Amino acid sequence: MVNLALFGAGRIGQIHAANVALNADCNLLYVVDVNAEVAQQTADKYAAKVATLDTVFADEAVDAVLICSITETHADLIERAALAGKAIFCEKPVDLSIDRVNACLALVKEHQVPLMMAFNRRFDPNFAHLKNVLDSGQVGDIEMLTISSRDPSAPPASYIKSSGGLFRDMTIHDFDVARWLLGEEPISLYASASALTEDYVKECGDVDTAIITLTCKSGKMAVITNSRRATYGYDQRVEVHASGGMLSINNVPESTLSIANQQGVSSQKPMAFFLERYAAAYRHELDAFIQGIVSGEVNYPSGDDGRKALLMADAAVKSLQTGEVQPLNLTAE
Ligand SMILES: NC(=O)c1ccc[n+]([C@@H]2O[C@H](COP(=O)([O-])OP(=O)(O)OC[C@H]3O[C@@H](n4cnc5c(N)ncnc54)[C@H](O)[C@@H]3O)[C@@H](O)[C@H]2O)c1
Repeated sequence: MVNLALFGAGRIGQIHAANVALNADCNLLYVVDVNAEVAQQTADKYAAKVATLDTVFADEAVDAVLICSITETHADLIERAALAGKAIFCEKPVDLSIDRVNACLALVKEHQVPLMMAFNRRFDPNFAHLKNVLDSGQVGDIEMLTISSRDPSAPPASYIKSSGGLFRDMTIHDFDVARWLLGEEPISLYASASALTEDYVKECGDVDTAIITLTCKSGKMAVITNSRRATYGYDQRVEVHASGGMLSINNVPESTLSIANQQGVSSQKPMAFFLERYAAAYRHELDAFIQGIVSGEVNYPSGDDGRKALLMADAAVKSLQTGEVQPLNLTAE
């Protein structure tokens, strides 16, 4: 039985706590949250105890920690967990500063604790199916990848200000998916972007509409299109154009109901947002983390995957600022 402590019981922490309860191989021992009410409610719901960080790290019964608190806490918590010898599941990103990420990952390496970066899309059944078929060679070699990733609406200004910007907050998932599917590290990146949704996005110095192009040494290419506005729901589609065919993932509708009448035939909108759309992915990623501890077989994104996605986000910021293609060096550790 893998005993866990949850740090942060907000939106995503609640999802992971619920998935812990569904996995027979793990157990939630502690909940830590600066919001005492949220911590107590969550602990009560899952028969766990509210605790301080010191209690968690000092308790030898704790095997692993789930870091689901706000982004600026991640690097410190990873380091404390590594020093205490706990396995670590961490929400993206490790940190918004690449120097901080490098220092943090060096400590994890030194203490040899498992670290999973929770890039959930790799565990979505549709994405995983596409990856399996691609790897099987049924459509030949990937040549062009198109990722369309659009949120239903912009987050509030308060969130945007501390998010690190569109590329580090949102596109970071798409960068990870692109690396994963291309099967080869991109060597250059070009980003163009603008602010078209809410006035406060621009006022916060951020963008909400972006097109990013990635190129690999072999010539394989990827295009990511992002928007913080999709009036029809959470828009998550992928197309792989390959030497022997094409693979695509479409949106998952709220239901499969189709309405046919004299006006035409209509189907349902895509699921509203990530909590619904990626519910299965969150379950499977937690299972992969626990399985990694139980069996020692690691089959999930690493801290280094988190570092590389952040390097790509930093390059996108630079490309936008300079108007130039940015080189990427993702092969070095
Ligand atoms: N992978 C994904 O799909 C996904 C989705 C949403 C959020 N996230 C990431 O998860 C993290 C949390 O996001 P959220 O949307 O759940 O935020 P949230 O604001 O809903 O929840 C964060 C929780 O952390 C708590 N907290 C703050 N400081 C803390 C500290 N020092 N110690 C313990 N708890 C603390 C807050 O009280 C709050 O309950 C962010 O880093 C975000 O980038 C990832």
